[in-house]
Amino acid sequence: MTQTPTAPPTDASLYELIGGAPAVREAVSRLYTYLLADEHLRGYFDGVDVATLKGHMAQLLTFVLGGPGTYPVERLQPAHARLDISGEHFDRTAQYVAGVLFELHVPMDIILQIGEILGGVRPLIVAAA
Ligand code: HEM
Repeated sequence: MTQTPTAPPTDASLYELIGGAPAVREAVSRLYTYLLADEHLRGYFDGVDVATLKGHMAQLLTFVLGGPGTYPVERLQPAHARLDISGEHFDRTAQYVAGVLFELHVPMDIILQIGEILGGVRPLIVAAA
């Protein structure tokens, strides 16, 4: 039987493909460094316990990428409701997510898939017009 060593594994989760827990941890750490440094976004995080937030974000990312554990996605709506987040600020944040993944050498196909997942949760996070 001929092996094709360059063929990507078909049964690996996105979580495994990007490098598992260490990759998620690093992505989340970098993401909040950038969000807190952005003058348009940092105000949302005033008074928020960012260490706890990073933990929840890591849990959510792990879960949606097919890694271990779960995160109740329905919590996203109540968690963001008081923040009155605009579509523009959501998109800006999603760009940082893509940028961080790119920095960590995540393949573009996977970055695009993650972008689609973020598009799916957009209505839970952006304030109704
Ligand atoms: C890009 C998609 C986003 C995802 C996947 C996401 C994910 C999360 C998660 C998992 C939590 C924790 C909720 C919990 O307590 O269980 C959270 C909370 C929070 N998010 Fe997001 N978020 C997103 C977009 C945004 C945006 C665009 C902003 C503002 C610029 C934002 C600001 C916050 C803040 C301030 C909290 C803490 C709320 C509080 O503790 O009162 N998030 N987010």
